[in-house]
Amino acid sequence: MNPVIRPMRSEDVPEAERVSDQGFFELDLRTRRVDGPPPEHRSETHRAVWIERTRHLVRHDPGGCWVAEDDRGIVGIATSFRRETVWCLATYAVLPRLQGQGIGKPLLAAAMDHGRSCTRAMLSSSSDGRAVRIYHQAGFALHPQMYLTGTVDRSAIPVVEKVRDGSAADVELMDSLDRAARGAGHGPDHELMLRTWRLLVSDTSTGSGYVYLDERGRVGLLAGSNRRTAVRLLWAALAEGAEQMTVPHVTGANQWAVDVGFAARLALHTEGYLGLRGMKPPAPYVHHGALL
Ligand SMILES: CC(C)(COP(=O)(O)OP(=O)(O)OC[C@H]1O[C@@H](n2cnc3c(N)ncnc32)[C@H](O)[C@@H]1OP(=O)(O)O)[C@@H](O)C(=O)NCCC(=O)NCCS
Repeated sequence: MNPVIRPMRSEDVPEAERVSDQGFFELDLRTRRVDGPPPEHRSETHRAVWIERTRHLVRHDPGGCWVAEDDRGIVGIATSFRRETVWCLATYAVLPRLQGQGIGKPLLAAAMDHGRSCTRAMLSSSSDGRAVRIYHQAGFALHPQMYLTGTVDRSAIPVVEKVRDGSAADVELMDSLDRAARGAGHGPDHELMLRTWRLLVSDTSTGSGYVYLDERGRVGLLAGSNRRTAVRLLWAALAEGAEQMTVPHVTGANQWAVDVGFAARLALHTEGYLGLRGMKPPAPYVHHGALL
């Protein structure tokens, strides 16, 4: 039976998570770096975060979230959303044994149709050969992503001033920073991020910005009105975040983040691509893989 492409429903999300987990676990097996950590299935905590985020997307953007289903159940998924003028792809996967058989492309087409009124589009691609081929065909320019990882050298952390904990009262400020950086605020996604992550904000007469630390204490999302503020916020995140830090998704337009990462004695590697249509890589900005 050929899979049917139909909208994802809230009750599909746990099964969709298993498809995504299998797709990414097998991708990790195939593309893992020799010096990288061994591939792992999602932890219970990470699985719960994935499910909560995907239910949030299904609720706000039912037209952007799709599954491919046959008599075995869900075999592929694509979730996406519109925020103002930007369409973002949040996640995209097909069960490993069924990849390369033409299931993924119509799934992506259904999700992209949700963004047809948008002038800009963003996605964070894995290094998967099929994914990058499909994104390139769909008109995305691919910008390599750098990751900074390791144990932060605490003695390198400067005194960080003018950074405070943030709250829902900062959403307007954050949305205006994101409009300047990527053309759209995160709008309802702040509800989700504020519920599950820690927010740090800097708002002074010379610049403003924010950084979220995710459920693992890693940098989740960062935006600043200028480099100086972004640097200050990244140091604050390194000071307050996990012992084993990751600053993911740094594009070449954000060398300031590489400078801070090296100063903190983190190690650098490349992984995946920021795919963009109708826009340049945002800066100073560190995007999130799904909420971008
Ligand atoms: C990316 C993914 C969702 C695509 O779904 P799919 O069902 O495999 O895709 P399709 O079969 O519709 O299309 C695959 C395309 O890649 C090509 N392809 C197949 N095997 C390939 C390979 N090993 N390397 C490169 N391209 C390949 C196909 O020929 C086809 O392109 P074409 O139509 O121009 O010939 C799926 O492969 C996947 O789950 N990958 C692992 C998870 C992942 O990386 N997801 C993307 C996250 S950003």
